[in-house]
Amino acid sequence: MSHHLNESLIRELAHKYHTPLYIFSEKEIRKQCQQLKSAISYENKKIRYACKALSLQAILKIVRSEGFDIDVVSLNEVKRAQRAGYNADEILYTGEGASQLVFEELLEKGVLINCSSIDQIRLIGEIKPGSSCSIRVNPGEGHGATTKTNTGGPSSKHGIYHDQMDEVKKVLKEYDLKLVGVHSHIGSESDLNHWLRIKDLTLNIAKQFDDIDFVDLGGGIPVVYKESDKPMPLNEWGEKLTESFSNFSKEYGKDIQLVIEPGRFIAASCGSLIAEVENLKHTPNYHFAIVNTGLNHNPRPSLYGSYHPISFIGAEGRKMDGERNYVIGGNLCESGDVFTVTADGTLAPRKLPMLQIGDLMIMGMIGAYSYTMKSEYNSMNLPASVLVDINGNEKLIERRGTIDDIMRREMEAYTEGH
Ligand SMILES: Cc1ncc(COP(=O)(O)O)c(C=O)c1O
Repeated sequence: MSHHLNESLIRELAHKYHTPLYIFSEKEIRKQCQQLKSAISYENKKIRYACKALSLQAILKIVRSEGFDIDVVSLNEVKRAQRAGYNADEILYTGEGASQLVFEELLEKGVLINCSSIDQIRLIGEIKPGSSCSIRVNPGEGHGATTKTNTGGPSSKHGIYHDQMDEVKKVLKEYDLKLVGVHSHIGSESDLNHWLRIKDLTLNIAKQFDDIDFVDLGGGIPVVYKESDKPMPLNEWGEKLTESFSNFSKEYGKDIQLVIEPGRFIAASCGSLIAEVENLKHTPNYHFAIVNTGLNHNPRPSLYGSYHPISFIGAEGRKMDGERNYVIGGNLCESGDVFTVTADGTLAPRKLPMLQIGDLMIMGMIGAYSYTMKSEYNSMNLPASVLVDINGNEKLIERRGTIDDIMRREMEAYTEGH
């Protein structure tokens, strides 16, 4: 659950590449991919990796070599995927926006667009009548770990609401478009019951269309961040999906492909963020340990109140002892820049050994939606990323940021004295 790295390797990498540092494990990412593949026995299945979770080239290549396709949300994610070797027909684009230029380029490349609105269907029709598309539906219900990660139901902006399928059919007909798939993604970290319920609702919607090839149930498979989190019972989940899709295909009279789009499940556990204790201070209420990273390198705690496992190893091999409750704070000028918080953002000190300046923090489970949500806030350099490959060898896959990286797009717009 926490991390998969041994202490001497962490010390070595922190010394060589400096902190803060992202470390990703190839072994872990492959393990997650293999678990998913073996959980679903249904033959006609496709797993698309939702690369918004972690989009480094090295990671995309590993996932592709496991036989997975890819789910993208922007034109630049399409380009990332293509640079990592994915062919256009291995990419599905699901995005909320609908710019004419983006859609033209996607259609020209031959990337399938999963329409999140009726306007998007119309736009495809205008650009390329007679082409194929799929639709993202909002089945009327959603479920996620937080309201911010719930992407279904009447309060969600995502997808086409399920009661508007007649309008969908009308527009498809108007432009002679072929609907090849029906998709839903109702939230991140959804439990088994919600997953199965949404599967049924989505299959019911899919039934309304004549000649589709696939039904895509999105991502949302939960992972275990803390001991009280419930893992998805993958085998039960896989069996239920297999049973439903086999029955559905029989009824529908065609072998329908089962598609899933996990991001978090594949990426979360492979990543750790290494940082160093730089200050220790206290108020009448709390002991604070300030580390040389922050919400700029993992915004999940401040954004969602998310929990990440945190442990420390002593500076210069010092053996750690004692015990104290610490709030772990980042080094940014932002009071919400704190890693140990509850879901509603209240400070939640953790029981840790007595810390000293220079001790190394290992924050686990940061593979999904941490690296990809990073920022250069406070003009802090971005960390380097290291991959520990399947043989245990380290490879630098992204160098540390610099001031030139931070200022790379600025123009000389002001000259003193003018
Ligand atoms: C359309 C779509 N598919 C898949 C995913 C991946 O979700 P998760 O990382 O929870 O598996 C997302 C996440 O936002 C999404 O929007």
